[in-house]
Amino acid sequence: MNTMTQTLENKSILLVISGGIAAYKSLELIRLLKKAGCTVRCILTKGGQQFVTPLSVSALCEHEVLTEDTYKMDHIHLSRAADAILIAPASADLLAKMANGLADDLATATLLASDKPALIAPAMNHKMWSHPATQTNIEKLKSYGHQIIGPEEGDMACGEHGIGRMSEPSEILRGIEEQIHRSSLPPFLPSSLPLQGRTALVTSGPTYEPLDPVRFIGNRSSGKQGHAIAAALAAHGASVTLITGPVTLPDPAGVTTIHVETAAEMLTACEKALPVDIAVCAAAVADWSPAEQQDHKIKKRKRGNPPDIALKENPDILKILSNHKNRPALVVGFAAETKNLIENANEKRTRKNCDWILANIVGQTTQKTFGEDRNHVYLITASTNEDWQPMSKHAIATRLTEEIANYFETKAIQDAAE
Ligand code: PMT
Repeated sequence: MNTMTQTLENKSILLVISGGIAAYKSLELIRLLKKAGCTVRCILTKGGQQFVTPLSVSALCEHEVLTEDTYKMDHIHLSRAADAILIAPASADLLAKMANGLADDLATATLLASDKPALIAPAMNHKMWSHPATQTNIEKLKSYGHQIIGPEEGDMACGEHGIGRMSEPSEILRGIEEQIHRSSLPPFLPSSLPLQGRTALVTSGPTYEPLDPVRFIGNRSSGKQGHAIAAALAAHGASVTLITGPVTLPDPAGVTTIHVETAAEMLTACEKALPVDIAVCAAAVADWSPAEQQDHKIKKRKRGNPPDIALKENPDILKILSNHKNRPALVVGFAAETKNLIENANEKRTRKNCDWILANIVGQTTQKTFGEDRNHVYLITASTNEDWQPMSKHAIATRLTEEIANYFETKAIQDAAE
């Protein structure tokens, strides 16, 4: 069992299940929470009961499921007894009620009676999700301190496609682990989190460089590696800004996430996030963009000869951050290579003036790396070259975060000695 999963042992989770086809996934979520050692109490709203039965929920959580207030102050007791509150799925209706302080059933009364930040996993039709009313409610809920996980893009039960699918139970479990990990640490011991008080920026995902209104130059980066690093830094106490290109992953819980599309937008967002102590550039930034962006879709030519597309070089964000007047104390880059991994990565580290490079092989056949859950990296610094062996991108994120924490601890000891 890893340290993060241990944080769930003996914790009491209050799970609110509201109406939505994704309610069936909450049954798996209960199973995962129980497996991690949690006590799970569930409130099933009227809407939720249309999709899963109280019997199946109570059988899995091994407690009577609550559907309405028994007039014994359930809403007060439940909110006080929980170590963390999770709402999955959170319907558009429940979000609207929460954002506006309505309390007309057990779920909403309990949520209003609580001062704990909840982890909210929305699920709804994509048009309902993108509606300004829902987005305003989400912003309000974030400003109250709640964390939102997902929703993700995919096919919907109604046959449409878009952003609105509830995050997978394993992702939600990870979100609640991170939230509890942070909140379970005594507030009077801020230094117990190794990166408490540190600030970090992380770039992740691809950039899309538009050619015309429908086409772009991009790449296969999924954001899995960069998002995992942002989440790990936050779980270790850092205040993290994640600047991500277009990906389908949910924003990591507890991280300020800024969405951009092009390399130029990514650079602007990075510079805006400065000063920070740590920068990790995991994004696969397009090296070039079309010299001109056409206002209209480029038409096929009558004679069949393809158009000439002139390219211009994009700003090198890692290099700019490494040479910035507000240079972060520690700048970490990645090197994606198809051959001569160590040699090319070392050359990149020196040329771009960053402190460390995580070098990985990328390709299309044996080791794709882009989009995969696992990676094989080498940490290259001015003095070392370590093979980290293949492991999950989450494990790499944790190991990198621990290396970063060690770096700052050693630096603090050295600074104190001088
Ligand atoms: O997103 P995933 O699917 O999880 O895949 C992870 C990954 C393969 C994208 C990641 O592990 C990785 O290697 N990221 C860097 C990809 C890359 O663009 O490498 P590069 O060797 O071309 O660039 C070297 C470094 O310069 C990188 O830190 C990159 O972020 C940075 N760079 C590159 C070009 C540019 N214009 N600006 C930059 O900041």
